[in-house]
Amino acid sequence: MVCGKFITLEGVDGAGKSTQLEHLVTLLRQNGLTVVVTREPGGTVLGERLRALLLDQASVMHPETEALLMFAARREHLDKVIIPALHKGSWVISDRFTDASFAYQGSGRGLSSGKLALLEQWVQNDLQPDLTLYFDVPVELGRQRVNISRAPDRFEQEQQVFFQRVRDGYLERAKQYPKRIHVIDARQTENSVKQEVAGILELLLKRT
Ligand code: TMP
Repeated sequence: MVCGKFITLEGVDGAGKSTQLEHLVTLLRQNGLTVVVTREPGGTVLGERLRALLLDQASVMHPETEALLMFAARREHLDKVIIPALHKGSWVISDRFTDASFAYQGSGRGLSSGKLALLEQWVQNDLQPDLTLYFDVPVELGRQRVNISRAPDRFEQEQQVFFQRVRDGYLERAKQYPKRIHVIDARQTENSVKQEVAGILELLLKRT
């Protein structure tokens, strides 16, 4: 029996996802909840090794290989981290999950959503996040906000049109799952976004 709740955070670079993740975790802990923070791709020993391969600029792979590796990491993540934590009653917050596969591999790379849906069903069965916060920001603004001093990874080095497709993919997915995915306008100030996140969380806490 699953007792905890599963929350995922999504968005293109520069949407403020990491800052809001910290805020969300603080709010949950203030409510006396046990929180497990994790990320995708990654979250397990094998998953982090797959992440390194997936993000390495030197990796050359077919888009389907990329999708399969994302889902392989996810299978491990569910088995070793997410499901055990939920069974213990913890709240799991994951920095990205399957919506990212539909946005990046689906819309971004052009893989069919039918194939991704098969992988989703295979790897997750019926497990879906209880809540997904999608921080939406126009691609140009997101790029202006990001100031990375290191070399860009395999995804960060993509062109603006790629990220435009990714953003469109997220918005499409949000339309498909309006109850689960909350689109948050991340052009707002950090504090306004924080308030919106707190409001959404309050509704979820009331339901539990
Ligand atoms: P991060 O740096 O925000 O943690 O994300 C790692 C990168 O992996 C990011 O560019 C998005 C990408 N990604 C996918 O392409 N598909 C996926 O399923 C996931 C989880 C992430």
